Amino acid sequence: MAGSVGFTYSFLLIASLFAAASAGNFYRDFDITWGDGRGKILNNGQMLTLSLDKASGSGFQSKNEYLFGRIDMQLKLVPGNSAGTVTAYYLSSQGAAHDEIDFEFLGNVSGQPYTLHTNVFSEGKGGREQQFRLWFDPTADFHTYSILWNPQRIIFSVDGTAIREFKNFESIGVPFPKSQAMRIYSSLWNADDWATQGGRVKTDWSKAPFTASYRNFNANACIWSNGKSSCSSTSASRNNAWLTEELDTTSQARMKWVQKNYMIYNYCTDKQRFPQGLPKECTAL
Ligand SMILES: *[C@@H]1O[C@H](CO)[C@@H](O)[C@H](O)[C@H]1NC(C)=O
Repeated sequence: MAGSVGFTYSFLLIASLFAAASAGNFYRDFDITWGDGRGKILNNGQMLTLSLDKASGSGFQSKNEYLFGRIDMQLKLVPGNSAGTVTAYYLSSQGAAHDEIDFEFLGNVSGQPYTLHTNVFSEGKGGREQQFRLWFDPTADFHTYSILWNPQRIIFSVDGTAIREFKNFESIGVPFPKSQAMRIYSSLWNADDWATQGGRVKTDWSKAPFTASYRNFNANACIWSNGKSSCSSTSASRNNAWLTEELDTTSQARMKWVQKNYMIYNYCTDKQRFPQGLPKECTAL
C-alpha cells in the first residue's frame, strides 16, 4: 500500500545528492505477478517476455515503489495480427485516490498501425487521454519508452523524443501526482471488446500466443520503502538532472511537431466531451 508522504524541498536537496542511475536486471527489479508461466525472464535477467493466449494474458510489476524518477524501458510489441491485444506499461500507486501515468499500446490487424494511448491520473481522476501514431513499426525492433516524473512535470518520451508533457498546475487547483509512491506495471491482455477499431476487429486466436518483449530497463529514481524515500542506489553512476529536468526549446519544438503530425486524439481539444469547458490544465499556459 503506497503511503502518503510529507514532501519537502529539503528532501529534494538530499535526493539530488544521492540520486543515481541503476541499470536493471529483471530478476532483481521485477516480479512476474500473473499469467501462470506466460511471463518469462530470460538471458540472465536481461530480457523479459509476456504472452497472451485464449486462456490468459500475463503481467509483471516492479519490486520497488518509486517517488519520482526517470524510467526507461525498451519494448518490442506483438507483431503481425495483434488486433484486440493491449500491452499496458505504466506507473501506478494503489487505492481509490491513486495516481497513475500510462502508456498503452493498442494492437491492430497486420499492416495497420498501433495506437499509443497515454493518460495521467491524479488522486483517482484520469480522463486525460492523448493518443498517437508512431513514426516507426513498434513490432520490428525494440524502442525506448520513457517516463520522466519530477515534482514539476511528467514527460512521456519515445526514443528520446518528448511526445507529451503534463505540467504541475496545482497553483490553479489541478492535483498533481507527487505524494504517492508508484510501482512500474506491465501487462499483455485481451481487450477485443474495445481496443481495435473500436471493438469491431476481434482477436485472431489462431495466431496465439501473442508475445511482447522488454529489455534495458533503467531507473534514475528515488525508491520509497518503509515510509522513507531513498535516492541512493547500488550503481556508481550519478545522474540527478531528472529531478529538475524540463524541456529545452528544441525539445519543445520537436514535441509540438510530433503532436501536430502524430497525435490522433487529445482530450484538451475535445469540446464535445467537455461541454461545460475544457479541463483547467488544458487552457492554462
Ligand atoms: C487500426 O487501423 C485502423 C485503420 O488504419 C485505424 O483506424 C485504427 O485507429 C488503428 N488502431 C486501432 C487500435 O484500432
